[in-house]
Amino acid sequence: MAYSEKVIDHYTNPRNVGTLNKDSKNVGTGLVGAPECGDVMRLQIEVNDDNVITDAKFKTFGCGSAIASSSLATEWLKGKSIDEALAIDNMDLVEELALPPVKIHCSVLAEDAIKSAINDYRVKNGLEALELPKSHH
Ligand code: FES
Repeated sequence: MAYSEKVIDHYTNPRNVGTLNKDSKNVGTGLVGAPECGDVMRLQIEVNDDNVITDAKFKTFGCGSAIASSSLATEWLKGKSIDEALAIDNMDLVEELALPPVKIHCSVLAEDAIKSAINDYRVKNGLEALELPKSHH
């Protein structure tokens, strides 16, 4: 299978690899796994008092498409509000990275990781976790 140039770029030069302090109230951590393949992704966001994401980091133990999806996701997250981040759809990642059908679940992992990080942040700050309907394509 051929990876697109954008996947190869993010895979060989991933953006925002790393860790934020998960004990901080301003940090939300999402940890998700793909049942399809066992790959695991951790994505973290740092949020300021205006509900804007000021930093995002990830670590992905998974395939090239999962690494590229999470790398791109962290780029997109920085500077977005929580509401804007919630609107990121896995198909946006699929389109940008030109992922083939067998790799769509890798982008789902990234969307789930974003939402799980947002919920972790919400719960830490006394808000209810959002219901996250599975509306994946
Ligand atoms: Fe499972 Fe990519 S093959 S996350």
